[in-house]
Amino acid sequence: MERWVGRVALVTGASSGIGAALCESLVRSGMKVVGIARGVEQIKSLSENLKGSKGSLLPLKCDLNKEEDIRNVFDTIKKELGGVDICINNAGLTNGKGILDSTVEEMHEQSNVNVIALCLCSQLTILSMRERGVDDGHVININSTIGHGVLPIGTKFYAGTKFAVRAITEGLRQEMREAKSHIRITSVSPGLVETQFAFRAYGEEKANKFYKSIECLQGHDVANAILHIISSPKHVEINELIIRPTEQSF
Ligand SMILES: NC(=O)c1ccc[n+]([C@@H]2O[C@H](COP(=O)([O-])OP(=O)(O)OC[C@H]3O[C@@H](n4cnc5c(N)ncnc54)[C@H](OP(=O)(O)O)[C@@H]3O)[C@@H](O)[C@H]2O)c1
Repeated sequence: MERWVGRVALVTGASSGIGAALCESLVRSGMKVVGIARGVEQIKSLSENLKGSKGSLLPLKCDLNKEEDIRNVFDTIKKELGGVDICINNAGLTNGKGILDSTVEEMHEQSNVNVIALCLCSQLTILSMRERGVDDGHVININSTIGHGVLPIGTKFYAGTKFAVRAITEGLRQEMREAKSHIRITSVSPGLVETQFAFRAYGEEKANKFYKSIECLQGHDVANAILHIISSPKHVEINELIIRPTEQSF
């Protein structure tokens, strides 16, 4: 991790779960982390708790449904920190409903956050790297095991967005190689991680049942895997990492 000390990482969906764990790990490793979400108060309190660590955490409010919010984040980063060296597109959601029961608004929200915002953040990150002549940057997209196969237990529109993330990640990797760039692109696909995710989608009773059915991954397990990915030597590009709880059968 030494070469990342003092450099800038953007983490989307930093207010809870995997994103919050990632912010903590990257700050402890010495990076200047920018954490974004609508729930900026949670990121501020994490930032307070991390005072005195090797790195720092800058909380910024951003609704990934809004293009203007995303562009403002990149403008602020440019002014305050220079630019983005690592972008972790982590924010994501499901409405917990079937395709037949979902409203157009719910489908738009999932497409916007899970897919469009991920593409725009990747685009603006790569622009930021190119402006500064950074050729060793990294874009990591948090996908899901559901992005590799539609499961009977999962929500199906959400699966569609994660299949899109898989195609887009590989597409972006190919675009980087065509451009003769050394910027690395990775997709990380976790199985069950105990976070706010299922609570938001299914409510407390179902979420508790879900997360207590096996020994789930925790946010820091995914964060550790990501530290491994970004610590790889520059000539090594881990493109796809699937990480499941040992007890998960699907
Ligand atoms: N938990 C799992 O079992 C699991 C499994 C596979 C993949 N994943 C993926 O892992 C990623 C992180 O999820 P998690 O498990 O850590 O869930 P989580 O605890 O619910 O966190 C989701 C994050 O996304 C952010 N977010 C949602 N909508 C947003 C919006 N409109 N604008 C800005 N931020 C938004 C939330 O922030 P605010 O609400 O504060 O804005 C929150 O910080 C997601 O991409 C998810 O698909 C999770």
